Order: sequence, then C-alpha cells, then structure tokens
Amino acid sequence: MVTKEENELLTKVGAGTPCGTLMRRYWHPIAASAELLKNPVKKIRILGEDLVLYKDRRGQLGLIGDRCLHRYMDLRFGIPEETGLRCPYHGWLYDATGRVLETPLEPVDSHIKDHVRLRAGRVEELGGLVWAYLGAEPAPLLPRWDLFAREDGFRQIVTHTLPCNWLQVMENRGDLGHGVYLHGRLFQYALERAGRLTDDPNARYNAAMRQQADRLRRGVHTRYRPIYNEYGFTKASLESDQSEDSPSWQMGMNPVLFPYILHSGHRERIRQVYQIGVPLDDTTTWHISYHCYNFPPGVDVPKQEVVPHAEVPLKDERGEYILDYVLGQDMVAWYGQGETTDRSQEHLGASDECLVAYRKLLREQIDLVMEGGEPTNVFRDPAANRRLEPPVPSQRELRGGFAGAAGGGQYYRANYHKASEGGWTYLDDDVERYAPDREVLLDLYRQAEEGAQRG
Ligand code: FES
Ligand SMILES: [Fe+2]
Repeated sequence: MVTKEENELLTKVGAGTPCGTLMRRYWHPIAASAELLKNPVKKIRILGEDLVLYKDRRGQLGLIGDRCLHRYMDLRFGIPEETGLRCPYHGWLYDATGRVLETPLEPVDSHIKDHVRLRAGRVEELGGLVWAYLGAEPAPLLPRWDLFAREDGFRQIVTHTLPCNWLQVMENRGDLGHGVYLHGRLFQYALERAGRLTDDPNARYNAAMRQQADRLRRGVHTRYRPIYNEYGFTKASLESDQSEDSPSWQMGMNPVLFPYILHSGHRERIRQVYQIGVPLDDTTTWHISYHCYNFPPGVDVPKQEVVPHAEVPLKDERGEYILDYVLGQDMVAWYGQGETTDRSQEHLGASDECLVAYRKLLREQIDLVMEGGEPTNVFRDPAANRRLEPPVPSQRELRGGFAGAAGGGQYYRANYHKASEGGWTYLDDDVERYAPDREVLLDLYRQAEEGAQRG
C-alpha cells in the first residue's frame, strides 16, 4: 500500500523534488531529429521545465530557457542564426550555453548582456532522437542502447502525448498480465462496437482469449516475477501448473531499462521496440514507440537519411479515444487511471509483483541519489558505452516455455503484411499502422516471407 506522501514522492518530477532530482541524472529524449528538419525551433517541456530547442545555421543544437531575458518574449518564435537563436522582438542573440551574445539595439558599450544568462541544457542526437541533460555536471554519457546505436536497422518513430503521470506508463512495463483483457477482451469489444469483430483464429485478441479460456478451464493462472539485472529487471512468467525449471521462469523477457525504457522483441525477431515514457511534467508523458526492424538478407531495405517520425493523436475525428490497436489500448489504461492515480486506493494482487518491483527500484534509486550516490544506468566510460545490449533472450532459448499472457499473438507479427479475416492487414492492429513508412514496412514483410518460402 502506497501512502499519499509516497505517491507524491514517486511521481513528481519538478526541479527540487526527490524524483525530479533522480530524473535529472539521466538523458531524456525531447524531440525527433526529423522534427527539426520541418522547423528548426521547437518548444520543449521536460521534467516541468519550459525550454526551446533549436538548430543554428551551422547545424549545432541548443536548448535554452523559453523566455527572452529582455522582455519575456517566447523564444519559440526565435530565429536561428549562424551562432545561436535570436529573439525576434529586439534581436537579442543567445548561444547554446544561454549566454547573450548581442543586444543590437543597445549602445555599443552596454553591459546588460554580461550580467544575465538563460538556463541551458546539454543536447545531443542519437538514433534519430534529440536528447537533453538538465542535471548536475559533469554530465554522464548519453547511453548508447543498442537499437539507438546500431547502424543496420530500418527505423520508425511514432509518438503520442499522454495526459497522465509518467509512472502509470512505467508501471505498465512491469505488468505482463494486462495483455489478456486489455489487448484481448477490450480489443474484441472495440471491434464489436465498430461492427468489425470476426472470429479470425489468427487475430491476436482471439488467440489471447482462447488461451485465457483454456487457463480458466484448467484452473490455472499465470505467475510473474522480476529478475533483477544491472540495467533494471526482466520479467518472467509461468503457468501455475508448470515446472519452475521452465526457461520462461528462469529467463526473464522484455527488459525494463531504468528509468523508463522497455525493450520488447526477441533477438531474432524482425521487429524490436523500445517503448519510452518521458515525463514532460507531472501530468504529461511523451510516449515514444521506437521501432527497429532487421529484415533478413535478400530483403531490399531502403537507406534512411533520417529516421522518420509521426506524432499521432489519441482521439479520432469524432473525439473518441482510438481503441482498435494495441498501443491505443495501453494508453487508455494509462490515462484511464487518472492524471496521477491515487495509489493509496489500490488493492494489489499476486499478478502485480513486477509492478511492485519497479516501485521498489525507483524508491531505492531516489534514496541513493538523495544520499549523494550515482544511480543505475548512468554511464561515464566511453568504452563500456559503445553499444549497450539489454539482456534479451532469443526465442530459441525460450522455446517450449513461453507462458506470456498475450501468447498466441506470438507469431502474429510474421503475418503483418497479410489481410486478416476482417479485411485489414494484421499490421493495422498495432501502432505500426501510424508508422510514416507503413507501406514500405508491409512490402518489406512481404519480401521477408517470400525469401523464407524460397528457403
Ligand atoms: S523581448 Fe527579446 S529582445 Fe526584447
Ligand atoms: Fe500493453
């Protein structure tokens, strides 16, 4: 049971708060690089702070306070110049450290600019994302997690802005069990209401509910446990009538990378994903679905100059929440718990074990930082940071033992490019339907299958 005070401690990320202090020890994605090609200036909110990200004419990034020090003009309207960002009102020019380089309407011997400075953060690009660091110096290295660092994948970035606290999103990362009802029964219900539900046995929601019916018939349930590692933990699952020797119990999957990245996918799968829930402020989370596809040899994968990005709305044109795809269901569960859910009112069960593990880890890390320590997943050795590989088991390792609650949908991604019984592609049941290169992806999956058939 979490008290109201503990709930505040775990959720609030503003400057000076315990969790905000912990969060300021990490790099945070704040934009897709592709966004800056459309507009080199972007207003940023991160950890409750308002800033402006810009790319100057030399191509260098800056992240500075969003209000001009002269008369508070919003610098989202700023003009990128050769060496910084110029306020459009009276022309003050700022560099990436927040220094005022010019006050062009003042007398040449004016010293105003020497006495003031804007807040500034560090900023770097990796894997098609722009990352910011706002904490104490010396800044740690920007972690090169493998999907960001690798050069060989075909990538797509789909983002959503959610009206809820980041921890609700993160707690879902520990929650393997939700797949049955949220991605099974609710999915069926959403399609039923739209007049689109079929009894397609290959549809993941039908498979998930078939498996659940079987569990209920056998009188068994799925057990879950966290397996801690140097990056956070993985989650293991097991049907209650299976042996604990099963690989699925001994070997966790879907690593949680503290503080807020989830890896999903097996090593040999075409698709691997990072789901990333960035705290913009206490009640807004930027969700990034970072998709990296590795198609087998022989598939003609186009070169990407820039990783494409799409920001997608939560509601349809009628103002209704979109529930007929997997991430849409996750998101409604996150903000459906309220802006910041009142954890003093909850009643946790055995199936919440991994969620509790995350809270414990978070609390430990907050305490560690408050005592002056360095939290987990802060990297300072460039050699160790070349490419960070989360512990992801291969499907072969897990074979025969997979007991994930959403199982049955396991092979469904291999069918992405095919038409379902309902007439839409299986890909459309997932967030990839919003991928900027949706058609390209379908074609690549088609090629992969043709290649496999040719052997
Ligand atoms: S308000 Fe920015 S230069 Fe005057
Ligand atoms: Fe989910």
